[in-house]
Amino acid sequence: MSDPHVVCVFGTRPEAIKMAPVVRALRARGDVRTSVCLTGQHREMLTQVTDLFGIAPDRNLDLMRAAQGLTHVTSAALEGLDTAFAEMRPDWVLVHGDTTTTMAAALAAYYRQIPVGHVEAGLRTGDIYSPWPEEMNRRIAGAISTLHFAPTTGAADNLTREGIDAGRIAVTGNTVIDALLWCRDHALADPAARAAMERRFAFLDPAKKLILVTGHRRENHAGGLEKMCAALRSLAARGDTEIVYPVHLNPEVQRAARTVLDGVAGVHLIEPLDYLPFVWLMTRARLIVTDSGGVQEEAPSLGVPVLVTRDTTERPEAVEAGTVRLVGTDTDAILWEAEALLDDETAHAAMARAHNPYGDGAAAGRIVSRLLQEKPEWYRNSASSASAISASPPPPSSRMRA
Ligand code: UD1
Ligand code: UDP
Repeated sequence: MSDPHVVCVFGTRPEAIKMAPVVRALRARGDVRTSVCLTGQHREMLTQVTDLFGIAPDRNLDLMRAAQGLTHVTSAALEGLDTAFAEMRPDWVLVHGDTTTTMAAALAAYYRQIPVGHVEAGLRTGDIYSPWPEEMNRRIAGAISTLHFAPTTGAADNLTREGIDAGRIAVTGNTVIDALLWCRDHALADPAARAAMERRFAFLDPAKKLILVTGHRRENHAGGLEKMCAALRSLAARGDTEIVYPVHLNPEVQRAARTVLDGVAGVHLIEPLDYLPFVWLMTRARLIVTDSGGVQEEAPSLGVPVLVTRDTTERPEAVEAGTVRLVGTDTDAILWEAEALLDDETAHAAMARAHNPYGDGAAAGRIVSRLLQEKPEWYRNSASSASAISASPPPPSSRMRA
């Protein structure tokens, strides 16, 4: 019996960060063939990650266009992945999270009847427009997937409530913690790497309080980002803060950030950072203001308070534990919460406790072990390849459904 062929598909920065540990864990094994297929939904921001983790893709559809719409990403990914799957003939396709790449890859695999494993499965807000389109992307990926790797028991509960067989769900922790701990405890443990970070950020005044900012969600494009930036402008005017905002390359985000914050003293609008310097800045921040999903998961492990500029979150664990607070995009609300964390040591200390609801850094190993319990011959069928392959019929109870 040949080794199973697992094709990992991803296309954006956060998927790459979170799939890198899975790719490395798969490649460390001698009993599986692993390929990486990038959609290229992101370009520069994707290469930043694949370079850091030493992931050479087997294919890259390179589909990104400036200011792309959801229909372009979906249709180009679906077309490109269909051809890629026909040629690569995966036994399994692994997708991650909730981007349009995730949804299209799950659908393309389904059309070829290739079983799908969904990493970071089961996150839900219950509102299909918040976050948009991610809530629908992950529901579609979940409906198609055969194996669901849920990061938390809460995410697993969401899936069982939707009728997914508990035997198809594995609670693994979130692979973002694997990536984060690798960076913090290995890459950044090197004194030369730390010295390089000190030099790179020598422009920051250590006497001032560092506020690290990211923002990109599509539902915040229609005014939300500008309102967040207005709060940052007021925070900069205090004079005791340094605001570092690596601005996402989405032109809408660039426009909003630059319109409100260009030239404001104490605000550093910079290019998206490589993961290593971003982690380094997170470890030094007094607080983080973000609408990012990944940052909400990372910051609690580092003990850094996070204000989330969204109205909903699919990551309730850190909110319940008190290290993440949902503040929406109202300028005054962001300002009020941020000032409390800057000025009140007790309020800051109450949020700054390090805790780990999202994982222990060993999620990727659990995912690979669970995946490889499955036998490819249970699933092989003619639709999964360009030319029909013969397959022994699967045991009746093993031909699993999502
Ligand atoms: C996408 C995902 C979102 C995820 C986010 C992570 C969808 C619909 N959205 O949103 O779920 O949270 O990535 O960052 O899947 N661009 C570049 N270079 C890059 C990356 C982006 O120039 O390396 C610009 C391009 O003009 C591109 C635009 O950003 O058209 C938007 O990229 P896209 O992936 O469609 O949306 P994001 O807002 O990045
Ligand atoms: N990140 C990064 N460089 C930056 C900003 C963020 O490497 O300049 C990392 C961050 O640590 C997290 C991931 O990118 O792991 C989050 O990506 P993003 O916010 O784009 O997407 P989301 O998580 O919201 O889907």
